[in-house]
Amino acid sequence: MKGSDIKKIAVIGAGAMGNGIAQVGILAGYTVAMRDIEQRFVDKGVDTIKASLAKFVNKGKITQEQSEMALSRLIPIVDLEAAVKDADLIIEAAPEDLDLKKKIFAELDSLVPEEAILASNTSTMSITKIASAAKRQERVIGMHFFNPSVLMKLVEVIYGNNSSDEAVQATFEVAQKMGKIPVIVKKDSPGFIYNRVNAPTGLLLQKILEKGSPSFEQFDAVFKPFMPMAPFELLDYVGLDIVMHTQKYFSETLSKDYTPVKALVDLVNSGVLGMKTGKGLYDWSAGRPQIDTSNPTTEYDPVDMVALQVNEATKLLEEGVVEGPADIDLAMANGGGGVGPFALAKGIGYDNLVKKCNALADKFGLEVFRPTKTMQEGNIQV
Ligand SMILES: NC(=O)c1ccc[n+]([C@@H]2O[C@H](COP(=O)([O-])OP(=O)(O)OC[C@H]3O[C@@H](n4cnc5c(N)ncnc54)[C@H](O)[C@@H]3O)[C@@H](O)[C@H]2O)c1
Repeated sequence: MKGSDIKKIAVIGAGAMGNGIAQVGILAGYTVAMRDIEQRFVDKGVDTIKASLAKFVNKGKITQEQSEMALSRLIPIVDLEAAVKDADLIIEAAPEDLDLKKKIFAELDSLVPEEAILASNTSTMSITKIASAAKRQERVIGMHFFNPSVLMKLVEVIYGNNSSDEAVQATFEVAQKMGKIPVIVKKDSPGFIYNRVNAPTGLLLQKILEKGSPSFEQFDAVFKPFMPMAPFELLDYVGLDIVMHTQKYFSETLSKDYTPVKALVDLVNSGVLGMKTGKGLYDWSAGRPQIDTSNPTTEYDPVDMVALQVNEATKLLEEGVVEGPADIDLAMANGGGGVGPFALAKGIGYDNLVKKCNALADKFGLEVFRPTKTMQEGNIQV
């Protein structure tokens, strides 16, 4: 199956990611069946798409006619077999639960056409493990959109251990047709690219939270003036429960260093989850928190964060997860960062970054912060 052979897409799950992916699909000219387990979930997904399209029309991004044409290509549906039996590409966006995903993939494997590609939008799970539920594992891949999927450009197209080049290439072309920036992840590895490169900075935030000094607000005060969202504010925005689960996953797959700290676990256990509960590290009850920027810490600076990201990015190179450094920069720049880590490293200098990583590794006793051989050689061309 080539990218140009793909005409009909089925999206499994009409939640936050599913309805966004369906919208992107219909806008790109695909017929999209959006399937959820109950009619009310499907209806909610359709309402979200309609509201989002209306915003696009109001902002002049698309015309009313284009919006109507796109909606005419949407098939909201509960019947799984009818949704997928003539689909060329199926994108699963059901909850992040391995057993559920395996059950869905086993079912899909028996319902879809011989040539159809089965993609999972999982943020963390092994594509190979998900694919193990299917008989034809060569057609199972990862297609990882970012939230909000109607706006974010990056799509990671991920090889499982048994995925075919053909399935990956065809999906890559679909993502391009959707107006996205796809990046191929050659090796099924925890966190793929974007979440993996950000893993150690998430860990640093946890450790600062645990120490209690500087305060999270003093830390955010350093970043707030030049970032749309400061680091701890972003944790609240994502959800402290999601952050904790991701850290736990990294502690099981990458290093014990990632074990969630007690301060984070306690917050989650007491139902303090961030923006969605109105209270996280900050108070969100009246909208976005007012962050006091008058007393920034001098103990840390943005280069600490960059150093950890660049170092983690070099691990992806050493492990062969990507084709080369340019792919990492492309992914990070389009996943939310604006500029890739290696482009930033060029300006800062590898000697400085290596010193930062060693200082942070010593300070917290964390070997995951220790600079890699590639980092120490500092000879990365982008
Ligand atoms: N939310 C994010 O920021 C984000 C970003 C990237 C990837 N992801 C991944 O995308 C996936 C979906 O996340 P979400 O945030 O959209 O979750 P969500 O809870 O908003 O939506 C999941 C939907 O799947 C439905 N569902 C459950 N079982 C189903 C089944 N058997 N068939 C069809 N639908 C079923 C649920 O009813 C729900 O509507 C997860 O794997 C998540 O890790 C999420």
